[in-house]
Amino acid sequence: MPAGGDVAIRTEHLAKSYRSGGEEVVVFSDLNFAVYRGERLAIVGESGAGKSTLLYLLGGLDRPSGGRIYFGSKEITTLADSDLAEFRNRQIGFVWQTHCLLPEFTALENVMMPLLIRGASYTEAAEAARSRLEEVGLGKRATHRAGELSGGEQQRVALARALVGQPAFLLADEPTGNLDLRTGERMIALLAEVHRSHRLTSLYVTHNLSFARRCDRVLKLEAGCLGPIGAGAEVFTPAAAMEAGSFKDENPYV
Ligand SMILES: Nc1ncnc2c1ncn2[C@@H]1O[C@H](COP(=O)(O)OP(=O)(O)OP(=O)(O)O)[C@@H](O)[C@H]1O
Ligand SMILES: [Mg+2]
Repeated sequence: MPAGGDVAIRTEHLAKSYRSGGEEVVVFSDLNFAVYRGERLAIVGESGAGKSTLLYLLGGLDRPSGGRIYFGSKEITTLADSDLAEFRNRQIGFVWQTHCLLPEFTALENVMMPLLIRGASYTEAAEAARSRLEEVGLGKRATHRAGELSGGEQQRVALARALVGQPAFLLADEPTGNLDLRTGERMIALLAEVHRSHRLTSLYVTHNLSFARRCDRVLKLEAGCLGPIGAGAEVFTPAAAMEAGSFKDENPYV
């Protein structure tokens, strides 16, 4: 890990195995890497390499089989379930591989959900949710049921929901995976925009190499190892992120 105080997320000997049909599936057994404050990191790799698994662990949605995850100096792997849920709700915005909206609820209600879980009032949650929907260009769709929206619109609602709690980190699992080229490009532009405007540290899992190459850094997950991929990927430097203004100053975890 490079010297300096700009590491936002760090893993130590991170391991995950699943037990399935009496057999143990080892996805990875010793991942050590860092995510820098303010960077946009793309993680690529073949289907089944463990990208979603890794993102779930970093997002506190699942527990590792071994190793540690730190956000700044805070270790999340030792947190009790309720503290981990609270950490996730406050710090992490997650966009799922399939958007996971509640189809019978309106776009607005879907986006309000993380704030209601946090204990915000209905009015406060609705106001924040409406702003986020406008930010992703869906202000006019607020009262439409999520299930009636197009795939691209649903993905933008999912992004609005991820941002509504003002997280420091955005984790997105194949955010352009189910979208046509043009809609995908719109999503990529939106992700870049909210990265800047919300001063995020962003991690994207993607199969879209054109998108990956536009990020600050690209890592490939392959055979249980996470390493750089070569040509085309710009190298991230904390100075570049500083210049882009992508820092979250008042966050205790970063
Ligand atoms: N709940 C589970 N139980 C058992 N095995 C699992 C479970 N979840 C994932 N796996 C296995 O772990 C491995 C990694 O899965 P993962 O979903 O992380 O891959 P991925 O890189 O995200 O793939 P894709 O690009 O297709 O989304 C796969 O071999 C998968 O079958
Ligand atoms: Mg996946």
